[in-house]
Amino acid sequence: MPSRPHRIAVIGGDGIGPEVTAEALKVLAATGVAHETKPFDLGGSRYLRTGEVLPDAVLEELRAFDAILLGAVGTPDVPPGVLERGLLLRLRFELDLYVNLRPFTAPHRLVDSAAASGASAQTAAASPAGPRDEGLDLVVVRENTEGAYAGEGGFLRKGTPHEVATQGSVNTRFGVERCVRFAFELAEGRPRKHVTLVHKTNVLTFAGDLWQRAFDAVAATHPDVETAYNHVDAACIYLVQDPGRYDVVVTDNMFGDILTDLAGAVSGGIGRAASANLNPDRTGPSLFEPVHGSAPDIVGTGKADPRAAIISAAMLLEFLGEADAASRVRKAVAGAEDVRGSTSEIGDAVVERI
Ligand code: IPM
Ligand code: MN
Repeated sequence: MPSRPHRIAVIGGDGIGPEVTAEALKVLAATGVAHETKPFDLGGSRYLRTGEVLPDAVLEELRAFDAILLGAVGTPDVPPGVLERGLLLRLRFELDLYVNLRPFTAPHRLVDSAAASGASAQTAAASPAGPRDEGLDLVVVRENTEGAYAGEGGFLRKGTPHEVATQGSVNTRFGVERCVRFAFELAEGRPRKHVTLVHKTNVLTFAGDLWQRAFDAVAATHPDVETAYNHVDAACIYLVQDPGRYDVVVTDNMFGDILTDLAGAVSGGIGRAASANLNPDRTGPSLFEPVHGSAPDIVGTGKADPRAAIISAAMLLEFLGEADAASRVRKAVAGAEDVRGSTSEIGDAVVERI
């Protein structure tokens, strides 16, 4: 690790992005870890002003940083795909951020499933009886550079009654295997040492087959790690009804996108869901961002929960070798669990506890 201050590029972005990022920066400053930040004006407002999404020169400048902290991008006036493909996915692909790491935790709590859902006797009879443990401590390793996100496909005869649209899923043995390897190495360091592959091997028989074989090959080199497989639809049920079964989940880009919104929803809300877009080989900076979007409907109201951004900053610290500061931030967030208040009040409450 460098002895100089960490250099962090900050992309606040749009909507609540700058609001939650300001709180994450406050928390970073409170840790006392030496760092320098430089703000980058990227996102929907720059695009609407100048037509630029991610100029090549800016991308090159970003490569020189140790890490990137991003709030959220997206404004209602920008057509779908412009910022997603042009900025977020371009950064993930160009910087080879091939793992999207998304941790979720929720305290153990027994709930009566039938009573909690107001289920009728009939539906209750069809679902597992008795109390359900809502506790979970899992981390999703989402492949972040391939799959349906790779951009393969196109139109034929667009705009005619006979138009055709295809959108393929790209799965390379290299790309899948390096992601699966990361998941197993992560599991090695966790108490339960358990990895579940989530896919849809019964229908996606080409991509699924490659994923399963890569998974089995990596598993063979980690005999001390227990493994499981779930189809993605079944994984949705388990995430809601029995999330405690999961430790590390590894899955493709699209399944990982959907599953992590669900995991966020069942573990205290998307306002707590943090993520790290990692380049584990460290050939460039990794990027840390909340899972949530720019939420233009609540911008300026102080209602945005900055915890997801703050936990993302903790992941940044950890990846830069500042494990002690990272754990202090995590403990401070946990200590401020019950704090209700505005975006900046929650940020202050975390800072006070560091
Ligand atoms: C996420 C987001 C992105 C994704 C979008 C905005 C491109 O939903 O980080 O989960 O689909 O990966
Ligand atoms: Mn998403």
